[in-house]
Amino acid sequence: MSKPLEDAFIDELRDTYDAEKQLVKALPKLAKGATSEELRDAFESHLEETRGQVTRLEQVFAALGEKVRGKHCDGIAGIIEEGASILEEDFDEPTMDACLIAAGQRAEHYEMAAYGTLVAWAKALGRDEAAELLEQTLEEEKAADKKLSGLAEGGINDEAANSQIDNAQIDGERPQPRATARGRTTSTTRRAPARSRR
Ligand SMILES: [Fe+2]
Ligand SMILES: [Fe+2]
Repeated sequence: MSKPLEDAFIDELRDTYDAEKQLVKALPKLAKGATSEELRDAFESHLEETRGQVTRLEQVFAALGEKVRGKHCDGIAGIIEEGASILEEDFDEPTMDACLIAAGQRAEHYEMAAYGTLVAWAKALGRDEAAELLEQTLEEEKAADKKLSGLAEGGINDEAANSQIDNAQIDGERPQPRATARGRTTSTTRRAPARSRR
């Protein structure tokens, strides 16, 4: 007999449970690779949130009367692998931060897609308690994504773009000033704000 949506729902939950557990291991690496303190804090606080999401999924399994079980999530494994290869690159600090944000946002969007589906299926199946729990996590993923966008657009991308200009000047080139995301033109002599490394 062919399997119903309920089975696909449980499968997707197992996949997502495994994805969250992979992220609990990966997020400390992203945090460690970040130079911006705000970015590091963002990864660290999302790590705490992610641990809570693992627990929340266990509550979902309990609400459904299912055993807690994960199933290897290839999708997030690929995203994490790409993030890890960024850390191997020799980017300047603000560029590395910009790349870590890009990697983090790929993971958040993957999760948003997964939880969006899970919430919709839980509702369609009349699993209201599960839907409510999954919705909480969906909102956390959206907020984490928004926070990363805020950090990128609120300075890190500009710093990365300007540090390239600074480097070129050191090399004796004469690059053109660049317009920032806000439409200003930056001075080529402007140094990125002081950054601290722990
Ligand atoms: Fe998550
Ligand atoms: Fe997340």
